[in-house]
Amino acid sequence: MTSRTLATSLKQMLRLPVMAGPMFIASTADLVIAQCKAGIIGSMPALNPRSTEALDEDIARIAENVGGAPYAINLVAHKSNSRLDADLEVVLRHKVPIVVLALAANPDLVRTLQANGSLVFQDVVKDRHARKCAEMGVDGIIAVGAGAGGHTGDLSPFALMQEIREWWDGLLILSGCIANGRSVLAAEVLGADLAYVGSPFLASTEANTQDGFKRMIVDGSSKDIVVTNCFTGVNANFLRPSLIEHGMDPDALKPHAGGPINIDGGGANAKAWKEIWSAGQGIGAVKRAEPAGEWIDWLAADYAAARAAIGLPA
Ligand SMILES: Cc1cc2nc3c(=O)[nH]c(=O)nc-3n(C[C@H](O)[C@H](O)[C@H](O)COP(=O)(O)O)c2cc1C
Repeated sequence: MTSRTLATSLKQMLRLPVMAGPMFIASTADLVIAQCKAGIIGSMPALNPRSTEALDEDIARIAENVGGAPYAINLVAHKSNSRLDADLEVVLRHKVPIVVLALAANPDLVRTLQANGSLVFQDVVKDRHARKCAEMGVDGIIAVGAGAGGHTGDLSPFALMQEIREWWDGLLILSGCIANGRSVLAAEVLGADLAYVGSPFLASTEANTQDGFKRMIVDGSSKDIVVTNCFTGVNANFLRPSLIEHGMDPDALKPHAGGPINIDGGGANAKAWKEIWSAGQGIGAVKRAEPAGEWIDWLAADYAAARAAIGLPA
């Protein structure tokens, strides 16, 4: 397979050049199914189902319902994830089409998944990380720029894409603040094969997000997002109103005290994702809480309009 074949063949399976970003707690099997049925790549963190057994059931249900469409499961390949081995066994057994590795992958894990038939994508926030992923032989690189929901990058997508596209000819996906048709098209112009969309799906009916969370996404915009490493040691974007509701001053957050990074969402971090809500700077484009399929229909129409506006064919 040449380095462009994968991008071409994946895009041919999609209605839009879009992949959903997996979101801790929020992404559900129903959301993945809705995303895939609407013609984008759906995704979900392996840790969202409450146990490895529940993950097994969810993956079986997704596979049954998406009719061969590509979907992705996200594995947090970090030593703080105590479920990694058991969840990996389930992912291997189901031959999940795409596995997104977050934060700290290793070459053995990449090889094991690929030998079993999965495509392996890894997210990065720097060109240096992207080069390491390429050395590990990943199939796709997800470049996470500034302003993204969850653990964010801090580089402009222009800088990130310029640097990575200079040497990486393989599948490249851009993440961060992409929430309308123009932004999807802009990602392609920057050299991305797919746009990675997270936060807009927090307002989806199928998302496991409370009504208050959905409302903050619909009512919010970039002014409501604050970046901090205070919860996990890694920079992440959070909704200001949600910090204020928990008695915190968003403008006086103390940097993380140091020590080991713990990103599994348990223990002291539980509050950070369950009660103090994360979202990216692109949420201003989200106008209502609705089923994911309806939002994707809107995105498809908005993308077509963006192409037409600059004279590109539909
Ligand atoms: C609430 C929330 C939770 C997230 N959890 C994860 C996660 O568990 N694993 C992961 O790889 N990315 C996670 N992300 C990042 C998304 O997959 C995606 O990269 C990001 O949302 C894209 O930026 P956007 O939100 O501006 O669209 C999360 C994002 C949000 C908003």
